[in-house]
Amino acid sequence: MTVPLLVLAGLDPTGGAGLTADVAMARSLGLHPLPVPTVLTVQNSLRFSGMRPVEPAYIRSAVGSLAEEFRFDVAKVGLVPVDDEAWIDEVGDILFLRCRCVVIDPILRPTAARSESAISPAFLRFISRPGVVITPNLRELKAIASALGVSQTDPALLAQDVGRVTGAAVVSTFEGEKAAVLVVDKGMSSEVPVMLVPTKRPVHGTGCRFSTAIACGVAQKKGLLDSVKTAIKKVTELVENRTEISGSGQDYLS
Ligand SMILES: Nc1ncnc2c1ncn2[C@@H]1O[C@H](COP(=O)(O)OP(=O)(O)OP(=O)(O)O)[C@@H](O)[C@H]1O
Ligand SMILES: [Mg+2]
Repeated sequence: MTVPLLVLAGLDPTGGAGLTADVAMARSLGLHPLPVPTVLTVQNSLRFSGMRPVEPAYIRSAVGSLAEEFRFDVAKVGLVPVDDEAWIDEVGDILFLRCRCVVIDPILRPTAARSESAISPAFLRFISRPGVVITPNLRELKAIASALGVSQTDPALLAQDVGRVTGAAVVSTFEGEKAAVLVVDKGMSSEVPVMLVPTKRPVHGTGCRFSTAIACGVAQKKGLLDSVKTAIKKVTELVENRTEISGSGQDYLS
């Protein structure tokens, strides 16, 4: 039986990341994605020019309508207007009414954007709801920790403290001497090594696909660590098979 996955993410018109990339990832892992846009962005792979949030009323109706037909209990959340408190609270209510687990990719700055959004108290409440998994990169983990008043220099301790304070499971990607993904779940920490595929140019959309692949595993009732291992394997394969698009500034994934 095919498992549905609710996917809330930004519509990136390059097609390289965000909602369309998440849909491709969920399909390739054998799930049925239910895509609901959170924001509409104006961007290409070199420049992020802005975004327009989708009305929470639309998201409420869309998710309600999907729930009449599909049984889903896991959602993946990508780009959201992090500093819009009313938006975050309302969309949080919509999601947590229906989902046992919400995998949140805390994108504070779309890859091509210059500045990072400030983390609002509403966003901290959002990631502190029961059943959350967050998938920050190291920069995002540090920003969340700082907004929570957590000060640690070691990434592993930082992830543990963020997990303890928010109650969320933390899946943190970082590149130190060797690339690895750190998983903190129910007080237990594990480090999963990653063999990075060398690339000449940046690759668009690895982070969002990685986070979605984890949500897919959880929706299929796999454990978090297993889901992370599958996500690492899957993104590695995609990076190995990346394509160059004529004139474009980054490499793209299928
Ligand atoms: N070159 C690569 N080779 C293999 N795996 C990769 C590569 N780049 C990224 N990944 C996988 O993607 C995961 C997400 O890491 P990444 O650094 O892309 O996140 P990010 O900084 O959030 O990126 P994004 O800008 O796309 O949001 C990594 O943990 C790794 O598993
Ligand atoms: Mg990211």
